[in-house]
This record gives sequence, structure tokens and C-alpha cells, in this order.
Amino acid sequence: MGRLQDKVIVVTGAAQGIGEAYAKGFAAQGAKVVVADLNTEKGELVAKQIEADGGSALFVSVDVSSAESAAALVEQVVATYGGIDGLVNNAAIYGAMQFDLLITVDWDYYKKFMSVNFDGALVMTRAVYPEIAKRGGGSIVNQSSTAAYLYSGFYGLAKSGINGLTQQLAHELGGQRIRVNAIAPGPTDTEATRTQAGDASKELVKNLAIKRMGKPEDMVGAATFLLSDESSWVTGQIVAVDGGQTFRP
Ligand SMILES: NC(=O)c1ccc[n+]([C@@H]2O[C@H](COP(=O)([O-])OP(=O)(O)OC[C@H]3O[C@@H](n4cnc5c(N)ncnc54)[C@H](O)[C@@H]3O)[C@@H](O)[C@H]2O)c1
Repeated sequence: MGRLQDKVIVVTGAAQGIGEAYAKGFAAQGAKVVVADLNTEKGELVAKQIEADGGSALFVSVDVSSAESAAALVEQVVATYGGIDGLVNNAAIYGAMQFDLLITVDWDYYKKFMSVNFDGALVMTRAVYPEIAKRGGGSIVNQSSTAAYLYSGFYGLAKSGINGLTQQLAHELGGQRIRVNAIAPGPTDTEATRTQAGDASKELVKNLAIKRMGKPEDMVGAATFLLSDESSWVTGQIVAVDGGQTFRP
């Protein structure tokens, strides 16, 4: 028996990077994984690889900033797997994001960015939670970042919002036995990070307690714990998986 045996888990942004590692790691623990992403080509490939390795996966195209798209995903997942037990809100605009200040960023860009990186987690949660409630409860994991604790512009602001959302939703949904937690990764070696940070990530590593970049697979253990019944009394928590980049008193 895997630690997530037969649980149906939706992972957004699962076509690459950390989301791909989540999807593959959860499938290896017996979950039926929904690879949910805007990127159809890469998302379908991840689902095929999981199936080829003996796991169960379904690719569903979704835009997490759209309530209609989220509702269509739920319909398709329920038709295929009969329900939903867990949701990981991992999708974000990250690798190709613009760098600008809050006081100068173009309004339309800012609103689009926040609609994905902040509102997206709420849009998906609102669409999915009734299905989790029907199963008698389950778990939602939001993807935050250590950027929430550091000076990092509107990207960090969105992640601070994710932390607040996690705590608020933990209260709103706890009565329905739905737990809501977050993972705050530190600098993690994905294609998106290489595009976005380049050599700057080498500097970041010097200040970590563990002197290496994170790997997408480093996030999987914490996420598996938060999705599994092993964490049945853990909710509203932001778990840093960051090589010791940050700590909170
Ligand atoms: N890599 C890091 O160092 C790091 C550190 C802390 C937090 N994070 C967070 O982890 C998550 C994944 O990071 P990554 O490095 O794997 O990024 P990534 O850019 O490789 O993956 C993001 C995925 O989200 C998808 N996506 C973007 N907009 C979407 C939308 N509107 N609807 C559906 N899917 C959409 C993309 O197609 C992509 O597959 C993000 O939330 C990021 O902010 C990453």
C-alpha cells in the first residue's frame, strides 16, 4: 500500500518542474493523479510517463485563473475517477515573469499575474472543495515560497497572500474535515528558476544552511505527508522546505 493509495489528487502546474515531481511522486505512492496545466503538450507527456511506469494519471487542460475552466476540470475528473481527495495549488507564472516594482508595474500585467499566482489557488479551491467534502474530507496544499518572507516584489506579495489564504481557508474548511496547508520551497533547480535567476541562484546557495539548490524531488516528501492521513491534525501551516534559507521564531 502506498501512502496515498487510491486517493485522487489534482496537481496544478504539473506539466513541468516541481508540479511534475509532485505528480510522479504521488503516483508512486498509489495516488490517481490529475496532471492539470495550461501546457497540453508537456502535461500529456507527464501523464503518459506516469502510466508507463505503472501509475494512474489523467491530463486535464486548465487555466487556474478561470472559474469556468476549474469547473470543467472538476466535471472531467469526477467523470473519470468518481471524486477528488486532494488538491495541490502549484501553478504560477514564474519562469517568464516580468521584473518590476509594485509602484511602476503595468496594471494589466499585475492583475493578470495576481489572477494566476494568488487568485488561482482560491478559484481552484472553490471549484474542488465540494468534491473533497463529499468524500468525507481531505487535504489541500498550496505552493507558497520563501519569497513570502523576503523582499521579492509582487511575486513575494502573491506568496504572502497564499500564506494568508492557507490560514483563512483552514478555518473555513476545517469543519468539513478539509485540511489546508502550504509548502514554501527555497531556491529550487527547475528550468523556470534557471531562466529567471540564472547565476544569481549560486549566490543564494551560499546563504543556505544546506549548501545546495533544492531539487523538485526535495518537495515531494513534505507534500506527501500533508496530503496523507499521517497529517490528519495538521492544518493552517506553512512548511518551509528550503535548505535552511529561512526560519520563523
Ligand atoms: N523553482 C523554485 O525555486 C520555486 C521556489 C519557491 C516556490 N516555487 C513555486 O513552485 C511552483 C512551481 O515552480 P516551478 O519552478 O516548477 O515553475 P514552472 O514555471 O516550471 O511551472 C509552473 C507550471 O504552471 C503552469 N501554469 C502557469 N500558469 C498557469 C495557469 N494559469 N493555469 C494552469 N497552469 C499554469 C505552467 O504551464 C507550468 O507548467 C510555483 O508556484 C512557484 O512559484 C518555485
